[in-house]
Amino acid sequence: MSNRLGILISGRGSNFLAIADAIGARRLDAEIAIVISNRLEAPGLAAAQERGLHAMALASKGLDRETYDRQLIEELHKSRVDLVCLAGYMRILGGHFIREFHQRILNIHPSLLPAFSGLDAQHQALEHGVKFSGCTAHFVEEGLDSGPIISQAAVPVLADDTAESLSARILKEEHRIYPEAIGLVLSGQYRIEGRRVIPK
Ligand code: GAR
Repeated sequence: MSNRLGILISGRGSNFLAIADAIGARRLDAEIAIVISNRLEAPGLAAAQERGLHAMALASKGLDRETYDRQLIEELHKSRVDLVCLAGYMRILGGHFIREFHQRILNIHPSLLPAFSGLDAQHQALEHGVKFSGCTAHFVEEGLDSGPIISQAAVPVLADDTAESLSARILKEEHRIYPEAIGLVLSGQYRIEGRRVIPK
């Protein structure tokens, strides 16, 4: 696999910036070919433009999944993207998209999957009363937050945590493990056995 990344965002974009920083610091051998936001007002989009990256808004509002996904696929192919990285991309991808980029879509999720998939994972963890939570870098398959797990990091949940304080502790780990997971996948130094991603 060559190393051109297509990054999909919906909001703040701190994971995208962590990827960009890892590339800048030569911890990750990759190139950001395009950043696409499905929300026009996403702060991450402005951050990408400020860094001089190829960045675009592709509004998803009002479009059905297949129509929107086809537009996304077209833009990603135009930019000759090898690996699609979801970074706070808050829209479900349809089967057509997932088949188009088979085992070439990654996501970062703020819980230790399979616990607390879906929205507000940090809030779900607090409500459930778990003593540890964390984050998961994984391949994207059909089915919410369901693909093979590449790496995880755990953090403690403290007695006085709020969703905000827990999110901040988890986010720090997201920024560390996501670029590493991307590096592993780009290197091809792994195999997938069933659901297990095994580094070579
Ligand atoms: C991150 O915590 C990411 O794990 C989460 O959204 C946040 C985006 O922050 N993603 C999900 O919940 C996906 N199911 P960012 O825009 O600053 O990277």
